[in-house]
Amino acid sequence: MCNCTWFMVALVLLQAVTTLLAVAPEECPTNVPENERRDCHSDPGSTEESCWERDCTWCESNDVNVPWCFYNTDPAPYGDCPTYQHPKDRVDCHPDSGSTQPSCESRGCLWCETAYEGAPWCFYSEGVAPEPIMEGYRVDCLMDQAGGESLCRERGCYYDSSNRDGVPWCYFPPDDRGYRIVGEVQDMYFGHRIDLRRDHDYTLFGGDVDEIRIDIEMQTDERLHVKIYDPNNIRFEVPHQMPRNNNKASNPLYQIQYSNDPIFTLNVTRTDNGRMIWDTSIGGLVYEDQYLQLATKLGSEEIYGFGEHEHHSFRHDIGFRTHGMYSRDQPPVENGNLYGVYPYYMSIEEDFNAHGVLLLNSNAQDVTLQPGPAITYRTIGGVLDYWIFLGPTPENVAEQLSEAVGRTFMPPYWSMGFQLSRYGYNHIDVVKETVNRVLAYDIPLDVQFGDIDYMDRYMDFTYDKVNYAGLPEYVNELKTEEGIHYIIILDPCIANSEPAGTYPPYDEGSRLGVWVNDTNGIPVVGKVWPPEGVVFPDYTNPTCNEWWVKQCLDFKEVINYDGLWIDMNEPASFVTGSLDGCDYNKWNNPPYHPNIFGNVLADKTLCPDFVHFAGKHYDIHSLYGLSEGPPSLAAARAATGKRSIVISRSTYPGSSQHVGHWLGDNYSQWNNMHFSIIGMLEMNLFGMPYVGADICGFINDAQYEMCLRWHQLGAFYPFSRNHNGLGYREQDPGAWDDSFGYNVRDILYVRYTLIPYLYTLFHQSHTKGSTVVRPLMHEFITDRETHTTDRQFLWGASLMISPVLDQGATSVRAYFPDDRWYDYYTGNEVSERGSYVTLNAPSDYIPLHVRGGYIMPTQEPARSTVYSRVLPLGVIVALDDNDSAAGKIFWDDGDSIDTYENGEFFTADFSASSGELQGVITHDGYRGVDSLVWGTVRVLGVATSVTSVSVNGAAHYDYSYNEQTQELVINNMDANMNVNLNVSWS
Ligand SMILES: *[C@@H]1O[C@H](CO)[C@@H](O)[C@H](O)[C@H]1NC(C)=O
Ligand SMILES: *[C@@H]1O[C@H](CO)[C@@H](O)[C@H](O)[C@H]1NC(C)=O
Repeated sequence: MCNCTWFMVALVLLQAVTTLLAVAPEECPTNVPENERRDCHSDPGSTEESCWERDCTWCESNDVNVPWCFYNTDPAPYGDCPTYQHPKDRVDCHPDSGSTQPSCESRGCLWCETAYEGAPWCFYSEGVAPEPIMEGYRVDCLMDQAGGESLCRERGCYYDSSNRDGVPWCYFPPDDRGYRIVGEVQDMYFGHRIDLRRDHDYTLFGGDVDEIRIDIEMQTDERLHVKIYDPNNIRFEVPHQMPRNNNKASNPLYQIQYSNDPIFTLNVTRTDNGRMIWDTSIGGLVYEDQYLQLATKLGSEEIYGFGEHEHHSFRHDIGFRTHGMYSRDQPPVENGNLYGVYPYYMSIEEDFNAHGVLLLNSNAQDVTLQPGPAITYRTIGGVLDYWIFLGPTPENVAEQLSEAVGRTFMPPYWSMGFQLSRYGYNHIDVVKETVNRVLAYDIPLDVQFGDIDYMDRYMDFTYDKVNYAGLPEYVNELKTEEGIHYIIILDPCIANSEPAGTYPPYDEGSRLGVWVNDTNGIPVVGKVWPPEGVVFPDYTNPTCNEWWVKQCLDFKEVINYDGLWIDMNEPASFVTGSLDGCDYNKWNNPPYHPNIFGNVLADKTLCPDFVHFAGKHYDIHSLYGLSEGPPSLAAARAATGKRSIVISRSTYPGSSQHVGHWLGDNYSQWNNMHFSIIGMLEMNLFGMPYVGADICGFINDAQYEMCLRWHQLGAFYPFSRNHNGLGYREQDPGAWDDSFGYNVRDILYVRYTLIPYLYTLFHQSHTKGSTVVRPLMHEFITDRETHTTDRQFLWGASLMISPVLDQGATSVRAYFPDDRWYDYYTGNEVSERGSYVTLNAPSDYIPLHVRGGYIMPTQEPARSTVYSRVLPLGVIVALDDNDSAAGKIFWDDGDSIDTYENGEFFTADFSASSGELQGVITHDGYRGVDSLVWGTVRVLGVATSVTSVSVNGAAHYDYSYNEQTQELVINNMDANMNVNLNVSWS
């Protein structure tokens, strides 16, 4: 309201006088010609009195079309207001105090003084306030600092309070601040190109990009690429080979529409049902040098993904939750930015279609999930490069993401086995004791790890010749005598203070200039594990990669390792930026600090202004782990001559072409078991299926019951490894007591029995992009109950794991979607469908169920996959309601590189119906199957008693049928794997 009351009073008095003087009923008190009269009383009930009430002029006319009550503009009673609107009808645009003409006009409103009592001087030109934006759609305009209304107004934003938690009070006007189309939307061979110009003068952090361009690539019917960039300046882009298209998709599952009134917005809808997927009409598009923002409405509240974080539910809480992303050496805490970066979500739409959206951007960033539902993206560099995958099923979405960023590597067969590790064995004798007591229980063990304590003073490519004297010999012994592979840890950082000529990794790297430099071209020195300083290899430099491969090859001559574990590659440092800190500049101190840990971006890592071959650390930071993957896998393969494997802590979309991942330095705490399931499910959405958490937890002492339960769960992690931190109580499965040891052996025998199935799932992931650990909803999407399931999970489509996750619990309340389910152990069918069932789960037991309609390949278990791989295989046939089932097997030597690509593999399709199982070979390129046989068939759900069985045409008598459980078990078939299999029963 205006702050000049005395003046108003004076005006009102003056006006009263004027009005009195003006009353002249006989003649019109004005010279306004009849044809220029503007109706002041368009509503019914106009009388002379009501007209004067409005300060308008009343004058009758003979012409019925001429209003009798009209605005008197001669002399204009309202001064030279730029409107004929009566003051009475004004809608206050500045109800808050401090109204002035400039502050008013900054709101896009009209300013006009008036003597009319109660009328605002600052008012909406249309006479109505714009539709208030729903609180859940508000895009925060004070994202960087606390601030009040004046700062908000200075930014040209709206200010409204709210009672609800998290709702921003200062938010972007949806239609009054953005970009407008220049010229026309251009039709291009790939889709559309739109040039936009900034349509306002506000700035948040400066460096506004006035002209931006959007390329809408309709790449395939399912994949849409929306790239918003600066056509006049090159900005950093994630150096991925993403797919391109030469033609517009002809039958896209999506439609795109644009609006330019009053500002540019875009929406994406699904073609067949018109449902909205994306709609940027809530405002908030900002394109500045170091601040890019895009906000969009979402078609559904069901959002999954974003990483890497510890999330406490698989489906997101969208109540204004902000998730920061910037790779960081950070033990998991809820919603904190962790090791990797995944700006990706999947959404389940109202009618059960699914889509995924990737923002291919590597800068420090955050996203806010809002109850609109809506999402606001904020990043401090790069370009806005969106990839939308239209599914329509959740599995299709996973396949389409992985097709775009690259399919996952095919892990070696031995990496399907159980693995053991700890930081701080500190002596080779402790490693030996540990391995021996595990083997003493016949616990299967495929991999032993060496963490940094195997090294000499924590330096890469060395080993501690005192505490680990004999390590080279021991590694060979493990391999040849126990079938155990050995994986060594490598940190990226290289010690820089050894006497010249004594530490080739540093000397050679320095000679080649492969380190990350400061802005003066001097290698950056930080502090990590080695006693003195360290330099950081720049894996974006091809020379660096050659150097890295050479170091790995040289070290292979010392330790006969089988795989690499690349840690600390966020990259982590124990000092901020470097030993010399960081300069103060726009890169190290950008104006917007996303919602991430640390007061500065350099916290626990390098300075953002440091220089890599491929760009500034500012842009590259979260890609450091990604860039270390390819040379590490190349090195491991060159060194071993085998497929090998690399496990990486920091990852980014596309990393899984080269590396697997563990969920980092978790805690020995019950709830971390639950979070690990969520983390695994998310990594599978991200196309990173080779994943697991440290069994029994990394930080703190494990406890007996928790650790036992964790082994039961961890037996179903794709990457199944018990790993422990420095100084905590021993937690390997041999460290507790006999009943613990034998229970872990038993559950790992179940895992090993099912490894042929797990391996086949990895083949499907490698070739098709399918998930391995699968959320229930992927298989039962129309059952809403499954959309929030995150305490149970599937292997592929057919094995359901329902672990005990709570202390003291001896039962699990498990959900059984509507299908046939059989108890894995007994073969008994679960009697209820589409409901929760409380399952008994004593301390030595994890509930497992097999889904009707599926066939899974199996094999007899042994102490290591090296030994189990040669034993008889088998199949589990679980019949569906029509007494049929189907499945597949992929088999190869498990160790050679690119067996699938080279055709050196075996596949067979299984189908069962009407009392007959067929195994039909579909590819026969691996001769190793010549010495393998099918031994066992388990058929679940056989309703009628079986009195005869035949295998490949010959009667077979070694079988048993259990009337109670309706399970048929056929043993010792001894049927060659290299011929089609035919088993029938009646
Ligand atoms: C998409 O945008 C067009 C053009 O502005 C508009 O007519 C349509 O209603 C929008 N659709 C949705 C679902 O928002
Ligand atoms: C880093 O500095 C070294 C010299 O110390 C130089 O050889 C190398 O090319 C520099 N790297 C980059 C990415 O600038």
